[in-house]
Amino acid sequence: MPCPRLPEGFDATDPDLLESRVPHPEFARLRQTAPVSWCPQPRGATGFDDGGYWAVTRHADVKYVSTHPELYSSRENTAIIRFNGHISRDQIEAQRLIMLNMDPPEHTRVRQIVQRGFTPRAIRSLESALRDRARRIVEDASGDADGGFDFVTRIAVELPLQAIAELIGVPQEDRARIFDWSNKMVAYDDPEYAITEEIGAEAAMELIGYSMNLAAARKECPAGDIVTRLVAAEDEGNLSSDEFGLFVLLLAVAGNETTRNAISHGMHALLTHPDQWELYKRERPATAADEIVRWTSPVVSFQRTATRDTELGGRKIRKGDRVGLFYSSANRDPEVFENPEVFDITRDPNPHLGFGGGGPHFCLGKSLALREIDLIFGAIADTLPDLRLAGDPRRLRGSWLNGIKELRVSTGG
Ligand code: HEM
Repeated sequence: MPCPRLPEGFDATDPDLLESRVPHPEFARLRQTAPVSWCPQPRGATGFDDGGYWAVTRHADVKYVSTHPELYSSRENTAIIRFNGHISRDQIEAQRLIMLNMDPPEHTRVRQIVQRGFTPRAIRSLESALRDRARRIVEDASGDADGGFDFVTRIAVELPLQAIAELIGVPQEDRARIFDWSNKMVAYDDPEYAITEEIGAEAAMELIGYSMNLAAARKECPAGDIVTRLVAAEDEGNLSSDEFGLFVLLLAVAGNETTRNAISHGMHALLTHPDQWELYKRERPATAADEIVRWTSPVVSFQRTATRDTELGGRKIRKGDRVGLFYSSANRDPEVFENPEVFDITRDPNPHLGFGGGGPHFCLGKSLALREIDLIFGAIADTLPDLRLAGDPRRLRGSWLNGIKELRVSTGG
């Protein structure tokens, strides 16, 4: 039962499509005519040979599914993966050890422990180190600005990785290795990087091993840092060294490329909307970072799996059906946003779902990500106020990320 109002074979997780654009016009049609619609997927495109998934495109429905984990489970892999082939049962089992793919009450225990590392106080304690980093990253790139440089590799990549390293207390001399593993893990979706799934898996194992050692060292010899609070606080419950290793793995994926793409797309959005860039430089509105996340929606979609027969938006959903939550679409829903197609850095309120639709899995790193975005654009406005685009962005190939892999910018004439 393919949706008759969509182009034949339309699938918003198709890498061929996402490599060229986010399908906003199709999302608009879906929201209006078939807000919960069945999207067929070719056999073998994913590990789920169930014929497809339900595409959920309205803000209210994305929120509903996100906040009802008893009806919509996270245990069957949360990304709608459609790339080089299959995700095996073994891979799904392994991913269940990561909190993103857990359901309550298992998820609740882990979440309660790890959120100690993300309290407002913990994020504030990183502020001056991150501000310094942001300034240094931009100053380093500014030396080449006249001739032009790639914004992604010179600016957007660096701060999210530094923030995670800072958060978990990775010593300076180990950071290059952590960054290398993290980059290998997130890039293998795109054939241009020539990184295979095997290399990605190997990097993941090395990162987990490194983090487990870090945890074991803190258990042995507690320090006043966040790792210690997560692994060695016996009385409040703690993470085992394995659980800590998997948590760092999740951070390296969830907190890295998402924020990198928010920064890259944010720069592109500001430079293609000169009035907004001028406004930003003049007033630095505190609302800008949220609008950048709404506008760019770095995570296009995540998925859930129905735990029983149910109904959504008037459609019958069967137990075991996959349900795709399209944050990119929800974030331009005119039922919720006035002039959703306008990029307005003073938008307030801005109840976007770029960090998820609420519910137990709501992005743990939201405050950190918003601070990073603020700090990096503040540094750019101070040091490179005359930056402009020097070419069209080259987009990342993937099935659930709205990514940019190259964005040429310069200050030259
Ligand atoms: C979960 C988006 C930055 C850590 C999520 C989810 C989304 C998301 C959509 C899933 C929510 C759900 O399923 O309901 C983003 C975006 C970011 C960003 C767009 C940047 C602009 C970060 C950062 C960190 C982080 C900087 C940490 C360093 C996490 C974690 C989860 C998560 C740990 C899983 C939470 C759980 O399962 O309970 N994020 N994220 N994210 N994010 Fe973020």
